[in-house]
Amino acid sequence: MARMVSRRAFVGLGLGLAAALATGCGADRSPGAGDAARGNRGEVSFVNPLAVPPLETGEIAGEHRSHSLVMSSGTSEFLPGMPAPTWGFNQPYLGPTLLVRSGEQVHMRVRNDLPEASSVHWHGMRLPARMDGGPHQSIEPGQTWEPSWLVDQPAATLWYHPHPHGRTAQHVYRGLSGLIIVDDGQDHGLPSTYGVDDIPLILQDRVLGEDGTLREDQPVAIWGLMGNDILVNGTLGPRHEVSAATIRFRILNGANTRMFNLEFADQREFTVVGTDVGLLREPVRTSSVSISSGERVEILVDFTPGEEVLLRSRSGSAGVDDGEFDLLLLRAAATLPPAMQHPTVMATAPAPVQAPADARVRTFQLSGDTKINAKEMAMDRIDEVVPAGAIEIWEVDNIVFSHNFHIHDAAFTILSIDGQPPHPTQQGLKDTVFVPGYTKARLAVAFGHHTDPNTPYMYHCHMLTHEDKGMMGQFVIVEPGTEESTPRQLTLAPQDEHSQETDHPGHHG
Ligand code: C2O
Ligand code: CU
Ligand code: CU
Repeated sequence: MARMVSRRAFVGLGLGLAAALATGCGADRSPGAGDAARGNRGEVSFVNPLAVPPLETGEIAGEHRSHSLVMSSGTSEFLPGMPAPTWGFNQPYLGPTLLVRSGEQVHMRVRNDLPEASSVHWHGMRLPARMDGGPHQSIEPGQTWEPSWLVDQPAATLWYHPHPHGRTAQHVYRGLSGLIIVDDGQDHGLPSTYGVDDIPLILQDRVLGEDGTLREDQPVAIWGLMGNDILVNGTLGPRHEVSAATIRFRILNGANTRMFNLEFADQREFTVVGTDVGLLREPVRTSSVSISSGERVEILVDFTPGEEVLLRSRSGSAGVDDGEFDLLLLRAAATLPPAMQHPTVMATAPAPVQAPADARVRTFQLSGDTKINAKEMAMDRIDEVVPAGAIEIWEVDNIVFSHNFHIHDAAFTILSIDGQPPHPTQQGLKDTVFVPGYTKARLAVAFGHHTDPNTPYMYHCHMLTHEDKGMMGQFVIVEPGTEESTPRQLTLAPQDEHSQETDHPGHHG
């Protein structure tokens, strides 16, 4: 109890400092300075059982599977006895884990019971643009949106979250996120009993006020909201009783901006078996793995009976990973079945994306915190036209501080970061890549096959404040040969015109 009180007193002090800095010399503050840099190491009491989002298999009829989501407001107690207003899918905070299978037609019913318009994007999914759930598929309050598509991609951990124009950071921060497990029907030899040896971990940083509510008014200049209160699956100070000797963790960085450099307190090795949109052909033994906002990683970890170990995050030099954080206490049961052999090769994993020698090269320059190629996002402007099924080289040239880069309806292989091959843990199929300050990432990108010259997909920095401020562009996928005749200007639907006009919180022009 004493520790909890001192922790909260410290957070209060830190907020005061951050507020003083933000009003005083906000524009001059270096990224990541102030309270958000401090971390929480040694100050958390891990007394709360880790919540595990319910696994929804949906309703199945033949080759069809239906899932229902309702977005609504509710209350959550991050601190016992202190109810906080939150938003969630089918529950007060976060949402269920949705199971889908490759080869099935999935039908989603998404009702918006929030007091304002939102959208739901299926991050990592290959699907027609009208089903993508970006800013053009706005769901008005009281409305239900029913997208449907054929699942056609390898096993992976994807996720869903709102993507309303200019308001994504706020909607996600309040709690709207959930996981999607794509099962491709193959036996990959990995633990797969959900909640037992196959456990999701949604990592989020938040700023909790003295009253236990989520604070939205203390953004760190440049990065937006970064907090020292870490939620795992919505649980503050989480602990989990481990009941299998080998656990597969499906980890999502669900933070608005913060990056995590994950490791165990005893530096034990684990095996990375998957990245954003696919398993790894060559699983990697390591004692640390980094994930930026929006990225996923799947790992296998062994436990010995009766032991206790902390999952934590090391401070780094990227600005977005300032601070030492304790994340989750894992305690192994007194007796465990024997550990399983970790795979060294997974023949069932997808091959890397290989670009042909004459692949088209496009360059995206990241500058400031609002622009790609010197332009802010415009809902009615098509920035790039890509022929269906193309494999292209996308070069992301970051001329400023840390950003990352996410592409909808795509899977890519990182060819290099600043001329160097990526870390082995980054060699699987990706949809989001961390681009350190003043470096260039080269990606071999495989695009989708669904053509629609009038409905764009997005590419953007997945640090949500940056995305909301305009660090985003739009591309369409078209029939090969029609690139030149594809209009670069869209006529917006009325609700898009409307969301175009809403003022962006935290938008400084
Ligand atoms: Cu996770 Cu465009 O988003
Ligand atoms: Cu996405
Ligand atoms: Cu960014």
